[in-house]
This record gives sequence, structure tokens and C-alpha cells, in this order.
Amino acid sequence: DSYAESLLSSSSPASLVASSPLTTPAESDDGFDIERLPTLLGGDDHVSNGSPTFILVIGGLGYIGSHTVLELLRAGQNVIIVDNLCNSYESVLHNIKLLIVDHCKTEGLPVPLIHFHRLDYRSRSMRFLLESYTDLVMTIDATGQQKMSYRSRIDGVIHFAACKSVVESIKRPLQYYQNNVCGLVSLLRHLDKYGIHNFIFSSSATVYGAKSNAGKPLREEDLVHHPEEYLDESGNTTILQPSAVGLSCPYARTKYFAEAILADAAASNPAWRIVALRYFNPVGCDPSGFLGENPRGEATNLYPVLTQVLTGVRRSLGVFGSDWATKDGTAVRDYIHVLDLARGHIAAMTWNAERGNGFRAFNLGSGSGTTVLEAVQSLEVAASRSIPLSWTGRRPGDVGFCVASTERARKELGWSPRESVAQCAADLWNFVQKRM
Ligand code: UD1
Repeated sequence: DSYAESLLSSSSPASLVASSPLTTPAESDDGFDIERLPTLLGGDDHVSNGSPTFILVIGGLGYIGSHTVLELLRAGQNVIIVDNLCNSYESVLHNIKLLIVDHCKTEGLPVPLIHFHRLDYRSRSMRFLLESYTDLVMTIDATGQQKMSYRSRIDGVIHFAACKSVVESIKRPLQYYQNNVCGLVSLLRHLDKYGIHNFIFSSSATVYGAKSNAGKPLREEDLVHHPEEYLDESGNTTILQPSAVGLSCPYARTKYFAEAILADAAASNPAWRIVALRYFNPVGCDPSGFLGENPRGEATNLYPVLTQVLTGVRRSLGVFGSDWATKDGTAVRDYIHVLDLARGHIAAMTWNAERGNGFRAFNLGSGSGTTVLEAVQSLEVAASRSIPLSWTGRRPGDVGFCVASTERARKELGWSPRESVAQCAADLWNFVQKRM
């Protein structure tokens, strides 16, 4: 990763080495420890028994995870990041630190704590990690008896660590079920043991399956896991029944199963407060150009492919289908700026801590549709260059129209997206140019 290396050598006071598993930055030898920046120290708003409390972000160095970590830090939260770097780079941690130190200096704020653990969240070490953030405290139960119980310094968990390639999931379904489903189950058991029940899950619009093809914005009620009462626009009450329709690949099924497991866990134990955030199509990046989408594998999503055409890695964009029932014949998606998405996690975390109860799903999308040709045009404008196209047939498993209804997130979370597709394209192009 030459971009990352050049950054490290040019902007860092010393090279950055990840904290090894189960070490905190204070014990690590990374040479750039935010906790040791004396002029910026002093913030301990999030404190339990005199010790700082944290939000645990699993998969926190990936594309959406890193932007969410930055947003949490900007909100003054201390953060623990767990990431095994299977689809991310350690340099992302360094860039997060640079950005948050810069932000806090500008705003005159103390820098929150960042603990990084390079760890597979499914490994046995995860249990020890949770234990290391747990205090054993004396409490009095309802009968007046004293008893010892765990109190975690982890206030909430955001879980991003999952495999997400449709094509790969068809080739390696068991790997997908192992990571996305089995991994989640053991994580939940560990969290339950340590009394951590505030949980935010990265879900996807893929759970709507064939319902996307109905040609109207998707509502959370289009997929429920337990029977649910629903009051429609005309004031009629119906009972919605759980039903998944046309889940097109193992990846989609892992997200569906994961949500169903979370809904069952929440129904079985009132302590759980679980939010599933159904992402539509995240694009863009932090305007600084220091964070962005940089997957290790082959790019398959539209915007990453488009930037590869602009940088000469590919000759043209293959447009998958020109015969969809849309205004220009190309498929419509709901592109949402990753910063809006990150802010959605903060809103969900706050809502969950204050009002969460059981399991609740929220769409995170912009609420407006963009065709493939409009997406192409947005990057052409940002880069002031034209993008060659080649027309190919529909991609297997694709849908023609997938747009979010954002009503529930607006009403309940008080969250609304702010950025346009043009802004997504401008920020993305800035990131790509910086890397070049
Ligand atoms: C895809 C996955 C979805 C997953 C999401 C993760 C499929 C069928 N769906 O969503 O399950 O949650 O990524 O980010 O793979 N396009 C082209 N040419 C390209 C690439 C894309 O025309 O080279 C078109 C697609 O047909 C689609 C649109 O661009 O209409 C967006 O595609 P993409 O970015 O892959 O996202 P999704 O298909 O929405």
C-alpha cells in the first residue's frame, strides 16, 4: 500500500505498528499514542467508576467502519477497534488518528481514547478482550443480598465484520455462513455473558430480496422477523408476517439469518437492545481524502469500478443491462454518502441507549434513486473527464430498482441524510487523486 506508506513516512512522527492482541495503546510500542499527547489529554466524559467507558467497533478499519469510528471520536466517544485486517489496512488506523487529533486541536477538545486490537472477532481471544474491559462489582439484589456481578466498560457494540461479496459468497458459502452467521452467534453469547446488550448490526438492503423489484421505496415493514402490527397510510391495521422472498445468494441469506437470530435473541431476553441498520449503496468518503474504500480484493461495486476506469486500471465500464423499466433503461440504486451512514450509526447508538427495546430495523439510504448512467455522469463531472461505456447484459441476481423509504429513520432516530450524489462523487474523486 504505497499511498499508506508515503503517508506514514511523510506525516507521522514515527512509524505506526498495531497494538498486538490484548494490548492497549498504553502498553504498545506504536510511537504515536494519542493517550500520550499531553496537551490534548483531559477528556473523560465517558467514565464508569473512574475508568473510561468505550464503544466497541468490530471491523472498525474497513470502509464504513473507519468512517463510523471517526464520527464516534468526533462525538467525544472512546473507541475500541477490533479488526483482523482481512479486508483493510493498518494505515487506516493511523489516518483516523491524524484526522481526530487535527479535529480536536481545531475545536479545542480533548482527544478521546482509541484502543486497537488486531484480532479475528471469532477467535478465543475475544472473550479475554471483553473480560479485560470488565469490572467485578458488588451489587445488592431484590432480596437485599449482596452479590458479585460483572460490569463492562463497553457501553455498546457496532458490528461491521462480515464478508460482503455476492460472487465470492456463491463460490464459498460455508466461509460466509461461518463468518457472518456462526461468528455472530458466538459473539452474542460472549456479549451476553459480560452484560453488554446494546448492539448495532450492519445489515443490508439485500435482505429485501425480490421485494426490491416492486418498483417502490422499500419500507422496513417489507421484511419482519416476527408477526408485527402495521398501520398503513389509509389508517388500516394489518398483521405483518415474517417472509423472506427471493434472497438471491448466500451473502443475502447470511444477512437475513443474522437479523432473524438477533430478533430471536432480543425476544428471549429483555436486556437486549438491538438495532439492524439496512444499508443501501454507500459511496463517497471523508472530504479530507484520508479515508475511503480500499478493498483488498477485486472491485465489483459500481463506483469503485468507475474510479478504476478513470485511473486506467480498466478500459471501460460494463453497464449491466439497458432494458430495466427505468427512465434511461439502466438500474436504479439509492447511493448514500458514507458520512451520512456513519452519522446514522451515532443516531442509532444514541436512540438504542435511550429508547431501544428488543429488536428494531432501520433503513439507511438517501431515499432517492439514481440510475447507472446518472452515477457515471456524477463522476464524469467530478473528474472533468468522460468515462467509456460498454453495454452488457444484466448481471445475475441484480434487481432493477432498490431505493429506501427513510421515513422510519427520520421519525424515530431523528436522522436524515444530508449529502448529494454529486458530493459523493466529488469526495470519492478527491480520495482517488490523493492516492494517485
Ligand atoms: C451489490 C450486491 C448487494 C450488496 C452490495 C454491497 C449484487 C447483485 N448485489 O449491490 O447484494 O449488498 O453490492 O455493496 O451484486 N453496475 C454496472 N457495472 C458494474 C458494476 C455495477 O452496471 O461494473 C450496476 C449494477 O448492475 C447495479 C448498480 O451498478 O445496477 C450498482 O451495483 P453495485 O455497486 O454492485 O451495488 P448493488 O448491485 O446494489
